[in-house]
Amino acid sequence: MSEAELPQSATPPFKAPRHVAIIMDGNGRWAAARGLPRVEGHRRGVEALRRTVRAAGELGIAYVTIFSFSAENWSRPAAEIGELMGLLRRFIRNDLAELHKSNVRVRVVGERQGLESDIVRLLTDAEELTKSNDGLTLVVAFNYGARQEIARAARRIAEEVAQGRLAPADVTMDTIGGFMDAPDVPDPDLIIRTSGEQRLSNFLLWQSAYSELVFTPTYWPDFDRPALEAAIGEYQQRERRFGGLVAKTGS
Ligand code: FPP
Repeated sequence: MSEAELPQSATPPFKAPRHVAIIMDGNGRWAAARGLPRVEGHRRGVEALRRTVRAAGELGIAYVTIFSFSAENWSRPAAEIGELMGLLRRFIRNDLAELHKSNVRVRVVGERQGLESDIVRLLTDAEELTKSNDGLTLVVAFNYGARQEIARAARRIAEEVAQGRLAPADVTMDTIGGFMDAPDVPDPDLIIRTSGEQRLSNFLLWQSAYSELVFTPTYWPDFDRPALEAAIGEYQQRERRFGGLVAKTGS
């Protein structure tokens, strides 16, 4: 597995994981702790996102996946859903040019059906504008649920079989992986969840089979480069065996 060297300034001198996925949790609690409305936590969460993407690029991370709106988030109050949709709109409108200038490629995973048409267009435009960039890939998981993604893949595989284009015996792990929303994106080496919660909450269940999980008590709006470096430091101390006996060299 290829990895990028961290710049000299990064301490300790370690290699960056290739793909870091982040469950950005704790916006509401960050706000509540300050007597602020929840939306203020989400707004500050967008600033943390900007910081983190910048830091990830500087640290030589090739892929960052962010859990920005889950399929389950629809159960929140309508006003909060509206705020989150508004933040996504503003994030893309305000930050896309900068991301593009920084050579970031944007990818989107999740269910687009049922989203407002202008949101679908913004997501599609962001992917289209940045598709030839070869710097960091930012995978935005929006209206995303891992079980839903697996069910979508299963449905599409069933259609292939029904059409006679695929034999049931040929449905392998690779086949299933190839029907995920972003099949060319490597599995995450490291998944970080902020806010002290210790679960995956329907995030990347297929892709996380061998991911290292790091949980930090930091609320997402406080997340920054030192917090990212600390999580990578913890990841580096883990011995990744991928089910075998001998630790693989690399990430
Ligand atoms: C979890 O905090 C966070 C979310 C549900 C959404 C994450 C969204 C952002 C960081 C900002 C939006 C960014 C984009 C690109 C749309 P929580 O509300 O569950 O916090 P709590 O568990 O403390 O209540």
